[in-house]
Amino acid sequence: MPDAYILGIESSCDETAAAVVRSGEEVVSNVVYSQIATHQPYGGVVPELASREHLRAIVPVVRKALTDAGQTYRSIDALSVTQGPGLAGALLVGISYAKALAFALDKPLIAVNHLEGHIHAVLLEEWQKGTRELNFPVLALVVSGGHTHLYLAEQQADIWSYQNIGHTRDDAAGEAVDKVAKLLALGYPGGPVIDKLRQHGDPHAVKFPPSQIKHPDRNEKGKSSGSAERPRFDFSYSGIKTAVLRYVEVHGMQAAIDERRKALAGIAKPTLETFLRLCDQQTLDLISSFQYAMVEDLVGKTLAAARAYDIATLFVTGGVAANQELRQRFEKDSAQEGLPVFFPSRPLSTDNAAMIAAAAYPRFCIKDFAPMDFSADAGLVLK
Ligand code: KG4
Ligand code: ZN
Repeated sequence: MPDAYILGIESSCDETAAAVVRSGEEVVSNVVYSQIATHQPYGGVVPELASREHLRAIVPVVRKALTDAGQTYRSIDALSVTQGPGLAGALLVGISYAKALAFALDKPLIAVNHLEGHIHAVLLEEWQKGTRELNFPVLALVVSGGHTHLYLAEQQADIWSYQNIGHTRDDAAGEAVDKVAKLLALGYPGGPVIDKLRQHGDPHAVKFPPSQIKHPDRNEKGKSSGSAERPRFDFSYSGIKTAVLRYVEVHGMQAAIDERRKALAGIAKPTLETFLRLCDQQTLDLISSFQYAMVEDLVGKTLAAARAYDIATLFVTGGVAANQELRQRFEKDSAQEGLPVFFPSRPLSTDNAAMIAAAAYPRFCIKDFAPMDFSADAGLVLK
């Protein structure tokens, strides 16, 4: 396989990112400009603001990625960019810039599925550590703000393909975490704060019933994938989010939440101590119990899927894979089953462009280049 320096560009949500990766196995540079401060006052990503921020950041972010890598526009071998899924306007910024660069430089451009990027974040770091062999079948849980998907990943003649065997029917895990954080006035994004605060509460204080999915997935009906008899492992997180809301109402916690919201409004970057000062024990117990229930569900369903498909290697990736409790539970429970589990490092768990450049490499090798008229695909499916 040829040695190649690929520039990756990622702008699907609220991170403007660029990176240079060598041959899908070495991160040479990795620049992420986070828009969190822009979206924080709204408690979630505002699509129009995201596009505007990407427009502002994309040129300096790409320049920095090249400079950090000791590369130039001319010296790189190819460009890659996220095609979808994501926010259409945000994706278009990265795609338009990547197309213009590829055209002006007369270099190949590779379009990458963001979810494939998350899976390749794990591979990239494993190759980087020197791992040379991977046991198949591989199961990948992609768990982020936009997705909770289970894929069987296969590699044939260096080409990767994916089969979805489970997804969320409603909220993604990260989305539910962010909504609960908003509800409890803990700021945006909720994952990192809840991850830290949960250690100060009792995970068994509030019992959340396990999520139940009774109906077949309407979106899967009529799809002739030949996998009709193969079991599916779908997720659902809107119920637990509503259960948190009910708990807040029933236990009269709203006044304290309003107080916390007011107190945090004037603080740009609240510390853990500040959050702890502003949360009573009942709130900490609720946070801890919520995260425990979600981790229990994610780990339980994923390992059930791993058993059903006789999986040899498990990947857990995406923003929520940065969660400490989730990692610990996966490590403990999969070790008991003798199943090796791999995560990306924390910086490569959340959105970044190194994963995009890494996923582009196998396509670079077979010259699977994007036509100049390709466009953003907000609902791009991974196959
Ligand atoms: O992969 P990502 O950066 O963007 C998407 O593709 O969605 O994931 C962002 C999500 C957010 O919902 C954020 O709250 C969550 O990942 N997240 C975490 C943690 N760090 C980020 N969730 C739980 N624990 C964390 N430590
Ligand atoms: Zn992502």
